[in-house]
Amino acid sequence: MQIRQFQAQYMVAPRDFQPIKRTAVTVEIGAGKGKHAVLFSQENPTTQLYAIERTKEKFEAMQKQHAVLNLNSLTPIHADALPWITHALYPAQVEQFFILYPNPEPHNSAQRWLNMPFFEFILSRLQVGGTITLASNIVEYIEEAEQQLQNVWQLPYKKEVIAKTSARTHFEIKYLERGELCQQLIITKPQGYTTRFDAFEPLLGQAQHG
Ligand SMILES: C[S@@+](CC[C@H](N)C(=O)[O-])C[C@H]1O[C@@H](n2cnc3c(N)ncnc32)[C@H](O)[C@@H]1O
Repeated sequence: MQIRQFQAQYMVAPRDFQPIKRTAVTVEIGAGKGKHAVLFSQENPTTQLYAIERTKEKFEAMQKQHAVLNLNSLTPIHADALPWITHALYPAQVEQFFILYPNPEPHNSAQRWLNMPFFEFILSRLQVGGTITLASNIVEYIEEAEQQLQNVWQLPYKKEVIAKTSARTHFEIKYLERGELCQQLIITKPQGYTTRFDAFEPLLGQAQHG
């Protein structure tokens, strides 16, 4: 199955967009109130983490935590991940992506990250050997993602059951307390992997109108 090409050049810049430095970074997509982002930054103080959340109230909760804890390596971003990533990130800049409990509408398969043409753009931003961690409490979501990895993206991955004691995010805590099975895929970009966006430079806030 061939996925149609993401139209990166037409992405309008997020409001108040600020470019970032061209150094190795980690990116969390849909960071919610920032629990994982804060824990990660405390454990990895030398890794620059950009934690993107589009819902205002959740972003504000993350920003509050960030201000109280004074974490220099964490940058909360209030934006939709698609335009922000398209405008901000350079090819092969990202060491790790985290997508934790994305929970799409069950009937809208186009909202699932590995079904989206945009996933190819994400892969172009990842370093060789870099990883994408995708966690979910929805068994079918993980199964479908595995199918996409095998059939469409042709990428190696590990599948893990998340320990009942894990407490990385608010949603993870809620699901594990309910006794639900939480799983994650750790997807790796191998040497020699190519995408149609490998030479695409970030738009850096330029308004693009097709
Ligand atoms: C179910 S919540 C999980 C939040 C957090 N990762 C957790 O596990 O507690 C999914 C989050 O992803 C955010 N989100 C979904 N699509 C997004 C996008 N395109 N850009 C930025 N945030 C997005 C939603 O606003 C929501 O806060």
